[in-house]
Amino acid sequence: MSDSYLPKGFLWGFATASYQIEGAPHEDGRADSVWDTFCRIPGKIADGSSGDVACDSYRRTAEDIALLKECGAKAYRFSLSWSRIIPLGGRNDPVNEKGLQHYVKFVDDLRAAGIEPMITLFHWDLPDALNKRYGGMLNKDEFVKDFENYARVCFKAFEAKVKFWITFNEPWCSSILGYSTGLFAPGRTSDRTKSAEGDSSTEPWIVGHSFLIAHGAAVKAYRDDFKAKDGGQIGITLNGDWTEPWDPNDPADVEACDRKIEFAICWFGDPVYFGKYPDSMRKQLGDRLPEFTPEEAALVKGSNDFYGMNHYCANYIKHKEGEPDKNDFTGHLEILMENKAGQTIGPETQSLWLRPHPLGFRKLIKWLSDRYGRPTFYVTENGTSLKGENHLPFEQLLNDDFRCEYFRGYIGALADAHAKDGVNVRGYMAWSLLDNFEWAEGYETRFGVTYVDYTGGQKRHPKKSAKVIGQIFDEYIKKE
Ligand code: BGC
Repeated sequence: MSDSYLPKGFLWGFATASYQIEGAPHEDGRADSVWDTFCRIPGKIADGSSGDVACDSYRRTAEDIALLKECGAKAYRFSLSWSRIIPLGGRNDPVNEKGLQHYVKFVDDLRAAGIEPMITLFHWDLPDALNKRYGGMLNKDEFVKDFENYARVCFKAFEAKVKFWITFNEPWCSSILGYSTGLFAPGRTSDRTKSAEGDSSTEPWIVGHSFLIAHGAAVKAYRDDFKAKDGGQIGITLNGDWTEPWDPNDPADVEACDRKIEFAICWFGDPVYFGKYPDSMRKQLGDRLPEFTPEEAALVKGSNDFYGMNHYCANYIKHKEGEPDKNDFTGHLEILMENKAGQTIGPETQSLWLRPHPLGFRKLIKWLSDRYGRPTFYVTENGTSLKGENHLPFEQLLNDDFRCEYFRGYIGALADAHAKDGVNVRGYMAWSLLDNFEWAEGYETRFGVTYVDYTGGQKRHPKKSAKVIGQIFDEYIKKE
């Protein structure tokens, strides 16, 4: 046991997202989101599935709250489905009271169970009507107004009940995977060339810019009209991995490591803390990266009450020679699992991109803390899949020692960052409470501390990690 610790009152719990767990796509007046539409395109989801049933959480809120209580969770981060609340999405479209009241009741039930709600307004599931009407985030002016309107509807409905708000989850993913690689909804320009569908060398940066302005507008609305009564906090959740040089003796690889983090995280983090994009991005992307007007810069700068950090793993980084490709979104480099000496960054998991490396967590949160002037951090996601988990015999599957070790390593690294590096971290949400719809990977990949029996009526079975995680926090959180 280390001498590191987490502060008294540290808030820990689990995270999920609406489309990944809720199912019930047509219940109570919900309309399609871009993910419903995307899943219908043959070949987009590995197992041909969708979130149509998922964990059936829309109808099983009581069961999910019981699971949270059983684990001892203090908080629950979940996302609202915009398509349930304003099915057609826009500021002139009707609010669907049934959808809204479902979440109001859920928040009341969580609070009655002593669990602090943390709400994400947008976890990738844009109402499809807005995509069809004006291209969603590609149309900044319309999108910003509609998002602000949706955010206001939510702030009002949950007034004085919710203390933690997150505007956007991982805008990097919606921008790059949705508009450059086409792996995620709406799956644009998957051929990554300029085509009749649009220009994938420009679109992700336009989409990212829209997210930032919409974030700024929603935060301003919250601070102007709701925060005083709520006493709440609002921020954006950004994702990114730690980077180690492929060849530590090559200064170009060492430099590429920071550049990779700038392209992944500081793309959004720098505007939020400094009101501008990173120089490395401007240098490579030129005028393909939008400029902030002075009003936009002022709106976005200082718009985080806390930094929401999603983090899973680390990579080795090797710089690339020559001119960057027009569609490059990495910072002109290679992302590798082994370094020059043939060492691997971490063990394999079911997710090709995910190799656990706990020390990287400590290093990255310190790196971000230094860059952004020691903000308050809430870790809003951290967790792992496990290679072959879906095919293990039931008993073995519930004994997820690999996941327990992952949490032990990562929570320990976080405690070190707090106690030894002076990082100001106040909370941690593990991904995820439940096995769920893992986007383009479908149901093959499981991230839950609870096994969901998809062919057995969505029955929930807590795994070993559901218990262990509370024990780990018990060891680290200061009592006095
Ligand atoms: C997302 C989750 C996802 C998880 C594991 C994060 O990028 O926010 O929705 O399931 O990673 O891939």
